[in-house]
Amino acid sequence: MGSKNINELLNIDKIYNGCFPCKDLLGLELLDKRTLQTILRVAAYFKQALVKPNHKSSILDGKTLITLFYEPSTRTRISFELAAKKLSADVINIAINTSSITKGENLIDTGKTLEAMKADYIILRHYFSGAPNILAKYLTTSIINAGDGEHEHPTQGLLDLYTIYEYKKDFSNLKVLLVGDILHSRVAKSNIWALTKMGAQVSVVGPPTLVPCYIKNLGVKVYYNFDEAIIQADVINMLRIQFERQQENFFPSIREYVKLYQLTKQRLLLANPNVLVMHPGPMNRGIEISSDVIEEYHNTVVNKQVTNGIAIRMAILYLLNKRRC
Ligand code: CP
Repeated sequence: MGSKNINELLNIDKIYNGCFPCKDLLGLELLDKRTLQTILRVAAYFKQALVKPNHKSSILDGKTLITLFYEPSTRTRISFELAAKKLSADVINIAINTSSITKGENLIDTGKTLEAMKADYIILRHYFSGAPNILAKYLTTSIINAGDGEHEHPTQGLLDLYTIYEYKKDFSNLKVLLVGDILHSRVAKSNIWALTKMGAQVSVVGPPTLVPCYIKNLGVKVYYNFDEAIIQADVINMLRIQFERQQENFFPSIREYVKLYQLTKQRLLLANPNVLVMHPGPMNRGIEISSDVIEEYHNTVVNKQVTNGIAIRMAILYLLNKRRC
C-alpha cells in the first residue's frame, strides 16, 4: 500500500489540492462533514489493508511519533503506536513518571523539547481540558488530542463513527443513544459533534446529576429514563462511570445506578432486535454494562471498535502528513 496508490484511489489530492487543511487534530467540533467523510474513506482503505497478512507501508518512513500521556491508557496509546509502526514511522513512548515532568517541567517546555528532537507528531493525553490546543499554538509539530479532561477524545469519536458506519451504512435519521456519565465523558462530546454533523439523531440518558444542562444546546435529546430512551435507539453507546473524576457522589449508590442505568439482556428486550451495542472501554463490567451483554449479545461490537481504532489512527496520521504548512 503505497502513498501514490492511496492518493489516486481515494482522490485525496483532488479534494484537498494536495494538502490536508489541518496541522493538528484537536477535536471534532472543528471538523466539517466533508473532512469527516474523507477520514472515514481513508480509514476504510487502511482497514482493508489491515486484514491482509503483509500490510506494512512506507508512507511515514522517516517520521517520528511521540506519545505523551499524562493519564493512563491501553487502547489509545497502543493503537497509535501500532498505527504508526504499520506506516513505518519511528515511535517513542514517554513514561511520565520517569521523565523530567516529575521535576516540574511544564507542558509547553516539554513540547518544545520534543519538537527540538524533530518529533513530527505528538500524541497528547492530558487531564486538563484544552491542553492540546495550548500546545498546538506553540509548536509546528502536529498535535493529536488523545483525550483532554472532559472536553474531547476525537480519535475515539472517529472510531465510533467508523464502527457505526460499518454496520449501519447511513447516518441520516439514525438514532444513537449515549448512556451514563455524560458530564465527565469526553467520548460523549466527540460522538455528539461527529454524529450530529453526519445527520444522526443523538440522544443522551443518565441520572440528572450526570447530564449537564448545556448538552441540549449541542442538538441532542435528553432522557433520564433508560427504559423510555432505549426503545427508539438503533445504536447504544454505553459510557464508563468515571469514578476518577468524581470528587463527590453523583448518585446515591452503585446498586441504584445499576438498577436504573445498567445495560442488561433484560433491558435489551425493550430495544430494536438489531440494536448495535458499543462501549469505548475500559468497561466497568457489572456497573454500566452486564457481562452477558458483552459476551453473548450478537451485536456487541466493543472489540471491533478497538480494531477500527488502528485504521482510524492510521488515517489521521496519513492525512496530517499531508497538512498545509
Ligand atoms: N477508550 C479509551 O480511550 O481507552 P484507553 O483509556 O484505554 O485509551
